[in-house]
Amino acid sequence: MSTTLAITDPLPLRNSTRSIPRLGFGVYRIHGKECVQATGAALKAGYRHIDTAQFYGNEKEVGEIVRTSGIPRDEVFMTTKIMTPAGSPEATYQKAVDSVDKIAGKDGYVDLFLIHSPSSGQTGRKQLWQALERLVEEGRAKSIGVSNYGIKHIEEMKAYAKIWPPDVNQIELHPWCQQPRIDRYCKANGIVIEAYCPLVRANKFNDPTLVGLAKKYEKSTAQILIRYSLQKGWVPLPKSSTPDRIISNADVYDFHISKEDMGILDSLDQGDAGVVVESVSDD
Ligand SMILES: NC(=O)c1ccc[n+]([C@@H]2O[C@H](COP(=O)([O-])OP(=O)(O)OC[C@H]3O[C@@H](n4cnc5c(N)ncnc54)[C@H](OP(=O)(O)O)[C@@H]3O)[C@@H](O)[C@H]2O)c1
Repeated sequence: MSTTLAITDPLPLRNSTRSIPRLGFGVYRIHGKECVQATGAALKAGYRHIDTAQFYGNEKEVGEIVRTSGIPRDEVFMTTKIMTPAGSPEATYQKAVDSVDKIAGKDGYVDLFLIHSPSSGQTGRKQLWQALERLVEEGRAKSIGVSNYGIKHIEEMKAYAKIWPPDVNQIELHPWCQQPRIDRYCKANGIVIEAYCPLVRANKFNDPTLVGLAKKYEKSTAQILIRYSLQKGWVPLPKSSTPDRIISNADVYDFHISKEDMGILDSLDQGDAGVVVESVSDD
């Protein structure tokens, strides 16, 4: 991979004419004014991909800042997620529509709508997917996918999905949690892999191996982690509320981590012991 990657470089999505910018901006645990300021700073810094969710309680703010940014709607890739069904197929569909309305207005669309978690059981997962497929049919979501899904969950979808495979699987990924089995499966099936917690929630910035590589490349530890994610073929979604960090986290296109150093970062994998949120399950 060359160093000529750029912030807006996209990856194709298998079932969509849209493609996804390879660097996203995560907005978990930021609300109100802080969310508006951080997302505004991200757009100003050149990010064109924002990752929100119903669960984050900030879809309205994210939609508002994109709408008032002056950037054409089709130049910003917006993702949201639904966690659980709402009791009936119609109510679940309506719960998803409410998100699109909040983000993009009554006539608008989201670029990607994900099922946030497989935790609703088989019936719940089916109901959620069918609600998302209806959004695609109606033009309210350009693309749909899943999050925290194991191979079993994605395979199970073949029994009912009109759209298969999901375009994206968003999972926890960083050197200490690489989930190679699901990584390989998604790549083999053309499913784009998004990396959440790419900065390990700032828990590993003092790790000696990481600090050593940051010194070697004259970059910050955060920049090494984001560049690692990009070179793994993932779509990292770093979050920050701090304007300077938002800018520096996107300054990862003027260097290349060598194959040998990628191997050193790969060797840090701790499997389930390295998890911050969760690893995917096939149970
Ligand atoms: N699908 C899911 O189940 C799921 C789960 C978790 C996360 N996500 C998504 O993934 C995104 C990222 O994950 P995350 O927010 O959990 O964690 P993260 O991006 O790994 O880490 C965010 C933390 O790192 C700090 N940070 C950011 N840049 C930094 C820098 N350059 N130097 C030092 N500290 C820095 C931030 O602090 P400041 O904000 O104070 O700068 C914040 O505390 C989320 O926002 C969300 O969109 C999805």
